[in-house]
Amino acid sequence: MKNAAISSLLVSGAAAFPFVAMQPGVDSSLFKRQQAGVGPGSAATCPFNPNHKPAAPVTEEYPYNNAKDGKVGNRKGGYQVPAPGDTAHYFVPPNPDTDIRGPCPGLNAAANHNFLAHDGITTFSELVDAQQNVYNVDYDLANLLAVLGLTITDGDLVTEKLSIGCDATSRTSFSPALTGSEPGLDGHNKFEADTSLTRNDFFTGGGDNYNFNGTLFGYMADACDGNFNRENLGKYREQRYLQSRAENPNFYFGPFSLLLFGAASFLYELMPSGTRNYAPDLYTISSFFGAVQQDDGSWTFGEGEKIPDNWTNRVEPYSNSDVTREIVTMYLVAPVLFGGSTGPNTFNAIDFESIQDGTLNVGVNPADTSCLLYQLATERVPSYLNSVVTPTVEALSFVASKLDPMFENLGCPRPLTK
Ligand code: HEM
Ligand SMILES: *[C@@H]1O[C@H](CO)[C@@H](O)[C@H](O)[C@H]1NC(C)=O
Ligand SMILES: *[C@@H]1O[C@H](CO)[C@@H](O)[C@H](O)[C@H]1NC(C)=O
Repeated sequence: MKNAAISSLLVSGAAAFPFVAMQPGVDSSLFKRQQAGVGPGSAATCPFNPNHKPAAPVTEEYPYNNAKDGKVGNRKGGYQVPAPGDTAHYFVPPNPDTDIRGPCPGLNAAANHNFLAHDGITTFSELVDAQQNVYNVDYDLANLLAVLGLTITDGDLVTEKLSIGCDATSRTSFSPALTGSEPGLDGHNKFEADTSLTRNDFFTGGGDNYNFNGTLFGYMADACDGNFNRENLGKYREQRYLQSRAENPNFYFGPFSLLLFGAASFLYELMPSGTRNYAPDLYTISSFFGAVQQDDGSWTFGEGEKIPDNWTNRVEPYSNSDVTREIVTMYLVAPVLFGGSTGPNTFNAIDFESIQDGTLNVGVNPADTSCLLYQLATERVPSYLNSVVTPTVEALSFVASKLDPMFENLGCPRPLTK
């Protein structure tokens, strides 16, 4: 039984969102299997490392952005990662018995290079440091993403630990009896959502929503034709949306799906290399996704997500206002309705803040959109089909402790606890 006092969110059915009321035709058995500890992403199938080692820290010799202990670093990129000679951060493939990997290629690559703990049990500080040191993510966005990772996927707010993939409650939780299960980043319809670039939908994928799917990577490579830019990814995101809406009777595309446009922007904003003129090309993207092309043209998963050779990161930091601008602009390339299906051939639009009648309705002016992602961490959000996630008092004070005053200065409303 979950103790609400230390849980990060409450999941409940909600009359306030009639759309997500319990409907006949919603297949919740897959969730129940994951919660009961069996099936893909569950505790029983999750790798276990008895000798956890934290991330390799940055040093005086190899300082990167000098981001340590969750504090702000130099905010100046353009340097090579890993630095030549810094063997502590060279690529080491994951060991399937001990190392957890999940739906996020950016974090998987960081773990394969020891910027996060190699076994995939990471901490809030490691997440904030690694995003700055590897990708030159700005401090505000690095914190916001780490907060979202911990709160909406049920990381542990006491230990500040998070699994970047499957359920590793015995290692993340300060007290499994009190916290209940902490599903990690694989947990569905929190941070992880339908219509991913290269991952199956939870329901149509038989519960596997986190492994690399080479067929989907091939669709993306075809749609982008060597240029993974905003325009091409915007169109590919629409293609995936239409595929999911047609195939997935429990399709859900809610407010958390805004994050998917942000993640897609990382392909052309965070992954390109200065040594390749910052082009979001197939060489670079396939390395970050761990994708290997076969002679017949198909794609398979190789040794793991790898930072390409001779890679130098972006020069200016990538901030919250940058990513929200990209989310809105990419959405406008091919606008689709936010909402979900409650069975075959049904679809209902939703309302949530700037999403009205299923349509995202904000200007591309950063001032209007700066609170878009912050709202996901601080408000009641309609989540998977029969529920709403409500941040607990503890989650809200965690948000406040990590994100004030950065987001207050932008004019975002304070969490209600203060
Ligand atoms: C604390 C920071 C982060 C967290 C908690 C996080 C978490 C996630 C999660 C849960 C997903 C799955 C969403 C879905 O497709 O359903 C995802 C996708 C993704 N993330 Fe991250 N992420 C973080 C930072 C980054 C960074 C720094 C990069 C940059 C390289 C990155 C790149 C991506 C990409 C490209 C995807 C889309 C994968 C796909 O759809 O196939 N992420 N992330
Ligand atoms: C990969 O994606 C394709 C297209 O959605 C799907 O048909 C196939 O079953 C998926 N493969 C696996 C192993 O899940
Ligand atoms: C990386 O740089 C080294 C030294 O300049 C060069 O020999 C090597 O070919 C480069 N590798 C790639 C993949 O660009």
